[in-house]
Amino acid sequence: MVSTALFGEACLGALLQAVEGIERPVVGLPTGNTPVALYEALRKLVQSGGLDVSGWSPFAIDEYGGPKGHPCSNRSFFARYWDAMPGAPSVAQFDPEASNPTEETNQLSEALELAGGLDVSLLGIGLNGHLAFNEPGSDFDSGVRRVDLTPASIASGARCWGSESPMWGLTLGLRQLLGAPAVIVMANGPEKAGIVARAIRGAESPACPASFVRRVSRAVWVLDKGAAGAL
Ligand code: PGA
Repeated sequence: MVSTALFGEACLGALLQAVEGIERPVVGLPTGNTPVALYEALRKLVQSGGLDVSGWSPFAIDEYGGPKGHPCSNRSFFARYWDAMPGAPSVAQFDPEASNPTEETNQLSEALELAGGLDVSLLGIGLNGHLAFNEPGSDFDSGVRRVDLTPASIASGARCWGSESPMWGLTLGLRQLLGAPAVIVMANGPEKAGIVARAIRGAESPACPASFVRRVSRAVWVLDKGAAGAL
């Protein structure tokens, strides 16, 4: 088995560079399999006293439209991987059970604006090229909103949710994510090689939302050998 520890350290290195010199960084946080190694490396660093994240202002980049207490919700992910760090500030996040999803997305959007917008976007890439839940078809200027998930994302969610995989989600838009001065996109494993190559070398288009990363001047891709395999 290939160790993911090195990948996590590389992601952490990119994150530390991005927040350097920012006193209270506003950071967009992803979930999924990809960032687990990063959160583990970050937790070790914080536990050893090498970093203090208590002044950070973390925002979840998306959430599934399912029960928030479900073990596969992003909220549960953050409880496991973020809140476990000493001094971790609580993550500003969507409530998928809010009675009015539009109001809910407006509230998080306003909170993010009040915080001054993201300083750093940490992102995974979906097999269909999505960033957070900005699915294929999302414009560069898309905002915080409720979205219907594509069959590819529902299938990906089913790895954890099984037959209850949510059909919709709440997400920060590409405007918020790619408007950050520093954008870090992480991908590992050969199954991501095709979409990574398409995002970096293919046409820039809403058909592959991650292709818009090239418009960000301070963007970094952190790839393991598998994910870089088609470049
Ligand atoms: P994954 O998800 O890390 O579980 O592959 C990435 C994403 O869909 O953004």
